[in-house]
Amino acid sequence: IPDALIDQFGRKVDYIRLSITDRCDFRCVYCMAEDMTFLPRDEVLSLEECARLVKIFVQMGVSKVRITGGEPLVRKNAQWLFEEIGHLPGLKELVVTTNGSQLEHQAAALRQAGVKRINISVDSLNADRFRKITRVGDLSKVLRGIQAAKDAGFDNIKLNSVIMRGVNDDEALDLLRFAIDQQIDISYIEEMPLGAVDHARGDTYVSNAETLKRLQQRYSMISSTESTGGPARYWRIPGTATRVGFISPHSHNFCESCNRVRITCKGELYLCLGQDHMVELMPLLREHPHDDQPVVDAIVNSMQIKPKGHDFDLARAQPAVVRFMSVTGG
Ligand code: GTP
Ligand code: 5AD
Ligand code: SF4
Repeated sequence: IPDALIDQFGRKVDYIRLSITDRCDFRCVYCMAEDMTFLPRDEVLSLEECARLVKIFVQMGVSKVRITGGEPLVRKNAQWLFEEIGHLPGLKELVVTTNGSQLEHQAAALRQAGVKRINISVDSLNADRFRKITRVGDLSKVLRGIQAAKDAGFDNIKLNSVIMRGVNDDEALDLLRFAIDQQIDISYIEEMPLGAVDHARGDTYVSNAETLKRLQQRYSMISSTESTGGPARYWRIPGTATRVGFISPHSHNFCESCNRVRITCKGELYLCLGQDHMVELMPLLREHPHDDQPVVDAIVNSMQIKPKGHDFDLARAQPAVVRFMSVTGG
């Protein structure tokens, strides 16, 4: 059923982001509240259900699948899922977004299973600060994870850095220098108001225009038209291998070219990260274990409610979207 996934604004959906767990071994300040309750296991899709959903979407024309969380690699047996979907015909890119804490042990197996690219969240290269931002994370473990991914043959690793005023905005340049040294890519991300965390996102907001200016004080940067199929706009630095991405939901809205939907670990199909339009797929999967058609129909129909764009507003005291990033999967 090619071309079934086109919304009412003519946007074709060929990228799904699937969160396989809301759990995480970190507690990043922009993602979670200090005190989090995680979902009971029976409310979360089984790995078989995850695989079934990915297969359905790929049959419907999706060519890029990103596995997210929470931290996807803390899910028990996640490796089974990667192997099950890694070589599906029609799936051009199986990719993962991770905090890197488990890569030391899992990078080689991911590569083996057919994972094409890995994006790793690193917001600071200072161990104390890294601990403050993640509340519990160990930077050295993540750095070993990055090395393990390189050793496993991943040649297109990307760092994701959420820049926050008064927290790590002074580190944008150091992060870039590290990426250049490591010959990997980096994306700078404007913090998004998802779920009530322990600070007001308006207070820490730094526009990517400001971050770009900081980088340009040291490097000459050339804007590029290349794309990885995600929301980043890229810049190149002559003489380096590094692509510098900017994900700017506030200062440079990219909704017009949106090509993606996300599936939460509860099997909810969210049509936009920053809106509440959604369809519950878990009941359909469980009521029809041997018939995909009702699931396919629900997905096709969901295209009619994909909103034009997000509704993020940093001026609001409480975020309009109450679900946390860890449930939705970014
Ligand atoms: P590439 O495939 O490397 O381009 O990755 P990606 O940017 O699509 O995915 P990643 O998981 O690395 O996400 C980086 C950031 O982009 C995260 O903060 C995501 O929440 C954010 N992001 C991804 N898709 C969307 C989107 O549709 N809307 C918004 N507002 N943010 C998004
Ligand atoms: N705003 C922007 N990015 C976020 N991430 C998690 N929460 C937020 C937020 N509120 C990032 C993580 C990870 C990616 C999936 O999303 O750092 O790199
Ligand atoms: Fe975990 Fe990622 Fe959220 Fe940090 S941003 S708490 S690593 S899910």
